[in-house]
Amino acid sequence: MFVTFEGADGSGKSTQAELLRDALAAEGREVVLTREPGGTEVGERVRQLVLNGPEMSGWAEAALFAAARAELVATVIRPALDRGAAVIADRYVDSSLAYQGFARGLGIDAVLELNLAVVQQLMPDLTVLLLVDVDEARRRAGATDRLEREGDGFRSLVNAGYLELAKMFPERIVALDGTQPRDELSEVIRERLRSRI
Ligand code: TYD
Repeated sequence: MFVTFEGADGSGKSTQAELLRDALAAEGREVVLTREPGGTEVGERVRQLVLNGPEMSGWAEAALFAAARAELVATVIRPALDRGAAVIADRYVDSSLAYQGFARGLGIDAVLELNLAVVQQLMPDLTVLLLVDVDEARRRAGATDRLEREGDGFRSLVNAGYLELAKMFPERIVALDGTQPRDELSEVIRERLRSRI
């Protein structure tokens, strides 16, 4: 079982990914929780470059996120799935589709093609997309990295990109209101998971 969490900065997806990890672990399952773009040494270094480094072209950004993701799939996600563990990823391919494909304007299809190649076609069984409006996202998110400092115009584009993805992949992506109380939302996510997998 491979589940990913997606949403704008400040959508609460990391909290929900952790709550799901705890719930599955409490049932006695082996669970691996990964965070993008880190999680491996290569990924952490790439993360430093892309989040704290200099301005760069859109495709350089997309390719760096893809490089970190390739390493994460090869060394963490694929081996975990092969041994029967559940994998929960805090951001995955859809982040690149929303941020680089849509918000940066590279094109969702082009960025998807790059990503499918580097992850060798591995896509999640289920993606939980948490939606919060731009004002709420700004209140919740820090402005600590290069992408988080982009401002409201970029934030709106990221939101629009995610909505577009939910339309493109209705079977895989479950879009939920990220402003619901934490524990209620966590329960809804577990119900959706039970009915999908
Ligand atoms: P992350 O640290 O995961 O942010 P958060 O803690 O909000 O989840 O990701 C950092 C930033 O990188 C975030 O603004 C989203 C952006 N990002 C992309 O633009 N493309 C990607 O493929 C990924 C994984 C992240």
